[in-house]
Amino acid sequence: AHVLVLAGGLSYERDVSLRSGRRVLDALRLAGLDAEQRDADVTLLPILTATPPDAVLISLHGATGEDGALRGVLELSGVPYVGPDARAARLAWDKPTAKAVLRDNNLPTPDWITLPQETFSELGAGALMTQIIDRLGLPLMVKPTQGGSGLGAHVVREASELPAAMVGCFAYGGTALIERFVTGVDVAVTVLDLGDGPVALPAVEIVPANGVYDYTARYTAGVTTWHAPARLPEEVTERVAEIAVATYKALGLRDLSRVDLIVDAGGDAHVLEANVSPGLTETSLVPMAIEAAGLDFGEVLSKLIQAAID
Ligand code: DAL
Ligand code: MG
Repeated sequence: AHVLVLAGGLSYERDVSLRSGRRVLDALRLAGLDAEQRDADVTLLPILTATPPDAVLISLHGATGEDGALRGVLELSGVPYVGPDARAARLAWDKPTAKAVLRDNNLPTPDWITLPQETFSELGAGALMTQIIDRLGLPLMVKPTQGGSGLGAHVVREASELPAAMVGCFAYGGTALIERFVTGVDVAVTVLDLGDGPVALPAVEIVPANGVYDYTARYTAGVTTWHAPARLPEEVTERVAEIAVATYKALGLRDLSRVDLIVDAGGDAHVLEANVSPGLTETSLVPMAIEAAGLDFGEVLSKLIQAAID
């Protein structure tokens, strides 16, 4: 099968995507597939119609690759691809929309509000900030409603930090998601469906050196320590896996996605989001989970590709 790996794109996560793409391409070639890598730009469109690949593997993060736009083009072109469809990607991509779906399905997600930049600019920082804190308390997490890799995300521990966090967030997106910050252990659960229904792979526990899992902590070797499987009591491990699979189902995901959660001191899990095009770099969580499950990264990708073609 001829597989096209798409990486790059024009989102803020372009560099991350290129790193994911490189690792994916190596793994596919090692698994014996005829794979080539391409950027996702306008030159892609004639290729999809003139010399369509047997399948596409999307290693794009952020806008276009993760928001459903490219998936819609692939669906229109009739080219099979691995991962959630355009509709599910659109849903998961917009964090408040996804959180509303989780809440409707009785899945735990931290309380939140959204705030457009225009409202923030018009009303200024004063009374509005007080209202937000009265409603959600402290600490808070402020991040763009769309995006990934921790870009534009800020933890707010004191009321005085909120306005600057909002401004920092708006550098990456027009609407802020302001969420109650749950103190606890960060875990990421890869949900994989190789044809027998979605299963949770071992949770990966994330321990960033300075306590915050930001862009540097995600992609610089040595800044974060990971534990796969996560060091959680057995019943918490089971519950986290259940919630991750339920999240995957509630959002209508497919093939492979990563659900990010926080486990609080009482052992309760809170879903932050689901990633339809999770990072596959050397320091990314999904390859760690696949390895912890005793599976081979390239083989898992090959199976997903074959399933997409069939
Ligand atoms: N947005 C990054 C790539 C991730 O979720 O892994
Ligand atoms: Mg994300």
